[in-house]
Amino acid sequence: MVWFVFSSAKAGGLVERLRREVQEGLVLGRGADETVEGGEGEVVRLGVAVARVEERCPLLMACYREAQRFTVHQVSTRVAMKDTVLSGKEGKEYLLKEGAVVQLVIGVGHAMREYWGEDVGEFRPERFLGLNEGRKGEGADGPGSARAMRAAFQPFGGGLHLCPGRQFAFAELMAVMGTLLLGFEVEPLEGADWNLPGFATRSLVDAVTKPANNGEGFGVKVTRRPGWEGVRWSYEL
Ligand code: HEM
Repeated sequence: MVWFVFSSAKAGGLVERLRREVQEGLVLGRGADETVEGGEGEVVRLGVAVARVEERCPLLMACYREAQRFTVHQVSTRVAMKDTVLSGKEGKEYLLKEGAVVQLVIGVGHAMREYWGEDVGEFRPERFLGLNEGRKGEGADGPGSARAMRAAFQPFGGGLHLCPGRQFAFAELMAVMGTLLLGFEVEPLEGADWNLPGFATRSLVDAVTKPANNGEGFGVKVTRRPGWEGVRWSYEL
C-alpha cells in the first residue's frame, strides 16, 4: 500500500487528497499526553477503527482495497464433503466429487477483466468508491459494477473461515498509513525511480504476497514533514 500510494503521488494529487482526508477524518486530537511514552512533547491521536475510516476516509479505504486487490494471492483449500454441482456462466455445470480437493485462488478473481473491466491492471482506487452502492440500475452486473466487484473481491476469504485477524490487520495498516501520510514525506532514493519490486514466489498459505528477495534493492527515503517534526503518535480503536 505504501508503494502504490506514494508512487502515485503525482497522479491527480492522490497523496494530498489522502492527507486532507486523514487530517479531517482520523485526527482525534493533538497536544501533550502523559499517558504516552515520551508524551511530554506533542502527541497526535489517530482513530483507526474500520467504521471510522469507512465513513470519513472513503479514498483511503479505496486505496487499501485496491492495494489488497493487487497483493493478496491466497489459495484457500477445501475438501468436497459430498458430490456437489456448481453452475457456471452460460449454464455450464461442474461436478465436484466427494473427497475432491478444491483450491480457490483469490488472486485470479482479483485480476479478471470480466469483473473489473479493461483497466484491471491499473492501480485505480476510485473503482472502489462505488462498492457500497445499490445493486440496481443499468449494467449493474457488468465489469466494474459494485456487484461484480463484491463477487470477485475476497482478500480475507469468506464463509466459515473468513479471516478472524482482518480488523487487527486493518488497524495496523491504517496506523502506518495515517502516520506516514500526515507526518512524513516518502520518496524514492536519490537517482532511483518508483519501480514496483517483483512479487516473491507465492506460497499456498501466504495471504499477502511479499516482495521478491524481501524487497532487496528497493528502498525509499522517509523524512519528517514540516510542522510534524517532534510529534509522537498514538492510535485508538
Ligand atoms: C492483510 C492481512 C491479512 C490477509 C489478507 C488475510 C487473509 C486471510 C484469508 C484469505 C484467510 C482465509 C483462508 C481460507 O479460506 O482458507 C485467512 C484466514 C485466517 N487468518 Fe488472515 N489475513 C490477514 C491477516 C491476519 C492476521 C493479522 C491474523 C491474526 C492476528 C490472521 C489470522 C487468520 C486465521 C487464524 C485464519 C484461519 C481462519 C479459519 O480457518 O477459520 N490473519 N486470512
